[in-house]
Amino acid sequence: MASVQAYPFRISRISDVGGAEIFGVDLSQPLDAAMKDAIMRAFLEFHILVFRDQELTKDAQYKFSENFGEMEHHVGRLPNGKPYSIVHTVTNLDADGNPIKSLKAEGNYFWHTDKSYHAVPSLTTMLHAVELPESGGGDTQFANTKRGYDALSDTMKTRIADMKVEHSWEASRRNVGAPPPNAAQISERPPVVHPIVRTHPDTGDKTLYLGHHMSHIVGLDKDESDALLEELSDHTTQDEFVYTHQWRTGDYVMWDNRLLLHRAMPNYKFSKDRRLLHRTVVIGTAPY
Ligand SMILES: [Fe+2]
Repeated sequence: MASVQAYPFRISRISDVGGAEIFGVDLSQPLDAAMKDAIMRAFLEFHILVFRDQELTKDAQYKFSENFGEMEHHVGRLPNGKPYSIVHTVTNLDADGNPIKSLKAEGNYFWHTDKSYHAVPSLTTMLHAVELPESGGGDTQFANTKRGYDALSDTMKTRIADMKVEHSWEASRRNVGAPPPNAAQISERPPVVHPIVRTHPDTGDKTLYLGHHMSHIVGLDKDESDALLEELSDHTTQDEFVYTHQWRTGDYVMWDNRLLLHRAMPNYKFSKDRRLLHRTVVIGTAPY
């Protein structure tokens, strides 16, 4: 596809839905103001930036990530009970470095936007592909909810304009069939309410703020709420609005959680192949 000229690096659109690949930028080096500005412009234009062929340490990933805001801590715990480090690992390998036998009921595999169960959710999530399945797969999908919103009927836009949705850690666990959190965990992360139509804080675009951390639409009975959330979710995750990223080793991907839903695909031999990525997250602003 044609290169875009307005940037100080080679950048090509990957899909109509979102995504651009960027070449010739070394993320292990400090960013100057002009490069940071160019990356942010590209981020707002393409929503998913794929920096190819990156080699950087966890420390360098931390330094690159913090250019874009306050770093977010992982909410989970490692199997040994310790907290995750801010630059943590997403992998199918166990503590001994061997592929796991079966996938757990993880929320990653369901459409979501990161930390929507927080009052102030994630702005961008970044993943650096260190090891990928030899036989392919392990893709990540992104759904563009601005495109989904724009394609709604005027009747539906009016119907949902002022609706609010409760998101919670408890609902998130329930929705994916995972063991429920205990009382302490629930009180540590109480439910939050966000608008269903979110305004992107940098562009003013209207988006659909959905995902499997949702519990219900405030003020509707359960059946009506479930039906409407399912209808909107199915609508904005239809193929027309989805980009599937097929990873290459060295890819460093950062995406905009404010207008994208995403999910991991269990489409690889997780009990045989190795998949390991380094993850960082930057906190955003309260949705409105
Ligand atoms: Fe996620």
